[in-house]
Amino acid sequence: MARDRRDSYYWKAKTEGYRSRASYKLFQINEKFKVIKHGDTVVDLGAAPGGWLQVAKEISGGHVVGVDLKRIVPIEGVETIKGDITSDDTVRKIMGIVGGEGADVVICDAAPNLSGNWTLDHARSIDLSNSALGCAKKILKPGGNFAVKVFQGDMFKAFLDEVRNNFSHTRAHSPGASRAQSAEIYIVGKKFLTAPVCRGDEFEIDIRELGSSGDGVVVIDGFVVFVKDVKVGEKVRIKVMDVKPNFAFADVIERI
Ligand SMILES: C[S@@+](CC[C@H](N)C(=O)[O-])C[C@H]1O[C@@H](n2cnc3c(N)ncnc32)[C@H](O)[C@@H]1O
Repeated sequence: MARDRRDSYYWKAKTEGYRSRASYKLFQINEKFKVIKHGDTVVDLGAAPGGWLQVAKEISGGHVVGVDLKRIVPIEGVETIKGDITSDDTVRKIMGIVGGEGADVVICDAAPNLSGNWTLDHARSIDLSNSALGCAKKILKPGGNFAVKVFQGDMFKAFLDEVRNNFSHTRAHSPGASRAQSAEIYIVGKKFLTAPVCRGDEFEIDIRELGSSGDGVVVIDGFVVFVKDVKVGEKVRIKVMDVKPNFAFADVIERI
């Protein structure tokens, strides 16, 4: 264990004044996906000892909030909450701090205490990641970004799909600073969607109008959905295939 901890990132963190080797994972994730930008309000879930908080503050220079079950030794310019990210009370406290405008970014490197039973540890990790997603959905601004750690396993794909349903672009990524033998992977969701339709939703609609591209244009709960291969006057059943921040694309699955 001691030998494993003393890898190059461990020593780099010690030398450069970061609280954890994990700091470099966030630098690498941000380098690739530009999750955090200057001026952003960032909420870090499962933040102790605070390596990611240091990096988030360094990149954003803005309002940064860290949450953990454990006390986080103060970092200048960073607010901290001692609390459980799975509890509504903690989410309310975070909302109280970020205010009505919401956060630009939610990041989560939370990990359960490992039992050594792989199935159980995977399930607990998915549970924590789901809580982080639930929290992000409550506190992110429309168009905000999300990054979360997950341990790979049977439930990974379903969780990835759930993130996909809520963000315009979603990727899974292993930063170089993750240990080679680690089963952890990070899911990055960019541009939080607040549209009233989700990928996979089905609707029965009348086509009354075509747009300049020739696609059908329908408005569902005030949200524009483009439908391929339709004619004015048709009644069709559509399935939403892709959702963007301001519109969605759907395919016809049945002509009625
Ligand atoms: C790998 S560490 C995070 C390291 C951090 N990113 C850094 O760079 O310093 C995982 C953290 O998740 C926290 N954690 C696990 N379950 C939690 C929960 N339900 N609520 C809040 N924090 C939790 C643990 O206490 C632990 O500090």
